[in-house]
Amino acid sequence: MKEVGEFPLATKIGSLVSNNSNLTTAKILIVDENPLSRMIVHDFLSLEDYKLVELDGMDPIFEGIIEQQPDLILLDAMMRRIDSFTLCRQLKGNHLTANIPIVFTTLTDSRTERIKAMEAGGSDVLVKPLNRIELSTRVKSLINQKCLSDGLNPTEQLLLTIAKAVDSRAVTKGGSIRVASLVRLFGRYLSLSTAEIENLAFAAHLHDIGTIAIPDAVMLKAGELTTEEKEIIRQHVLLGEEICQPLRNRSGVLPIVRHHHEKWDGSGYPDGLSGETIPYLAQIFQVIDIYDALTSDRPHKRAYSPQEALQIMDEEAKKGWRNPELIEKFTIFIRSQEQ
Ligand SMILES: [Fe+2]
Repeated sequence: MKEVGEFPLATKIGSLVSNNSNLTTAKILIVDENPLSRMIVHDFLSLEDYKLVELDGMDPIFEGIIEQQPDLILLDAMMRRIDSFTLCRQLKGNHLTANIPIVFTTLTDSRTERIKAMEAGGSDVLVKPLNRIELSTRVKSLINQKCLSDGLNPTEQLLLTIAKAVDSRAVTKGGSIRVASLVRLFGRYLSLSTAEIENLAFAAHLHDIGTIAIPDAVMLKAGELTTEEKEIIRQHVLLGEEICQPLRNRSGVLPIVRHHHEKWDGSGYPDGLSGETIPYLAQIFQVIDIYDALTSDRPHKRAYSPQEALQIMDEEAKKGWRNPELIEKFTIFIRSQEQ
C-alpha cells in the first residue's frame, strides 16, 4: 500500500465532510475586544467554509447578535466593557437567540470559570492561547448539532439529546456527526430527494439509540462476546425502532434504524431480509456506517486508509454481504473526490 497516494484522498474526504455538512455556510460571530485575539480566531477558522463576523464590544452587542443571527458565538469571557456571563444569560433568555451555542474563550483555565460559563448557558469553554484543532473540532460539532436541532419539535430534540449521550459512551465517539456529513454528500451524489437525505442524516444520529438499554459490561467489553452477549447487542435495532416510534413526521427514519444490520445475502438481523427487500435507505446508510467504522480508530484496530476500506468493502460485497451495485457506486463516489 503506497503511503504517498493515500494521504491526499484521506485529507480530501475529511475536508469535504467538514465543509459540506450543512446546506448553507454557517455564520460564526467572534466577540472580543482584543483585535489580535479576533485575528487569531479568524485565521484559525478561515480555512474552513464559515462566514466569520467580528464584534469588538464597542457597539451594542446584544442588538448586534439579534441582527446577525449567527450559528455560533465565540465570546471572550473577560471583556472590560461587558459582563460576558450576563450577556450569555440574556441571549439564552431570548427566544431569538436561545438556541445559538455560545463558546467562551478565556485566559483562565479554572473550574470556577467553567462553572460560571455553564451556569450562564454556555456550551463550552476554550482556553487561550487557542489550539487550532480543538477550536475547529468544537465549532464543527456545535454547529452540526445546532443545524440538526433547528426546526425540530420537542420530541425530536429529546431523542437527539439521548442519542448524543449514547454516542458519547460508544467506542465510536463522535461517529454520528461524521456519518451524518457523509450521508448528505453521498445522498446528493445519488440524487436522493431532500427528504430522503434528511432521513439518512437523522438516522445517523439515532440508529444506535437502542444501545442505551445495553449494559456497559456488554457494550464496552474488550474481549470476545459470548453468544448471549451478541444476542443482547442485536436487540439494539428493535429497541431503537421502539424508542423512535414517536417520530411521526420522520417515519422514514424507522426502517433505517431497524434494518441497518441486514445483509444482502439474508444473513443479517433482525429480520434476515435479503437483496432488494432491504429498504434502500438502510442499505445506503449501512455502507456509510461501515466505511466510517473502517476509516476510524478503534480500541482494537487502527484506522484503515480510504483505499483499504474500499478494498475490504469490495471483499464483503463479493462474499454476498452487501449490494454489489451500491458498493460500486460508493467506490466511484469516494474515488471521484480524489480529482
Ligand atoms: Fe447498529
